[in-house]
Amino acid sequence: MKFFVDTADVDAIRELHDLGMVDGVTTNPSLILKSGRDILEVTKEICSFVEGPVSAEVVALQADEMIAEGRRLAGIAPNIAVKVPLTWDGLKACKVLAGEGKMVNVTLCFSVSQALLAAKAGATFISPFIGRLDDINIEGTDLIADIRQVYDNYSFDTQILAASIRTINHAARCALIGADVMTAPPSVIKAMAGHVLTDKGLEQFMKDWAKTGQKIV
Ligand code: E4P
Repeated sequence: MKFFVDTADVDAIRELHDLGMVDGVTTNPSLILKSGRDILEVTKEICSFVEGPVSAEVVALQADEMIAEGRRLAGIAPNIAVKVPLTWDGLKACKVLAGEGKMVNVTLCFSVSQALLAAKAGATFISPFIGRLDDINIEGTDLIADIRQVYDNYSFDTQILAASIRTINHAARCALIGADVMTAPPSVIKAMAGHVLTDKGLEQFMKDWAKTGQKIV
């Protein structure tokens, strides 16, 4: 499973990138707001060191305006994936931009039916939002499993980009199901390293080592 980082915080991306944990990046208007940066400037900076797909989202609601914004965003770097919302106009924009050879990430997906339409419109990535479904008491990871089955049934090339990942269990479930990609905030990716038994075991090793009185270097 590929790891995308869901942030526009350049320092956080760099730290994970240096560890080989970054196969791509996703941003959205809320993350751009949080960064306090200009969308074109910060996206360009991210693309200067991230080799994989970097999603940048359009904000227009009409297809023709989404297409114009998508072309502008795609001009930032060859690895831009234009993010469009899963609306009828978003699907129209997806079809046109994908036809021009651009990567398209169709976002805000909450159903199998929506995912099916995105695949037929030529999406490179479909982004089902797990956490936001959990927020309304619907099991978000079930949607990932259902889309996996449907895409496999018909051999669609669209990659499942599991989004709105809030917990390490979300990440593990997505890997078990076979999501192609997950995008998670840096805090969740770092939390994946933690386990209470690792902490406990390490504490015991440190105590015992101190008793030996030895040094390695
Ligand atoms: C994905 O592309 C979105 O930016 C993101 O995963 C949304 O996550 P949230 O529901 O935690 O805001």
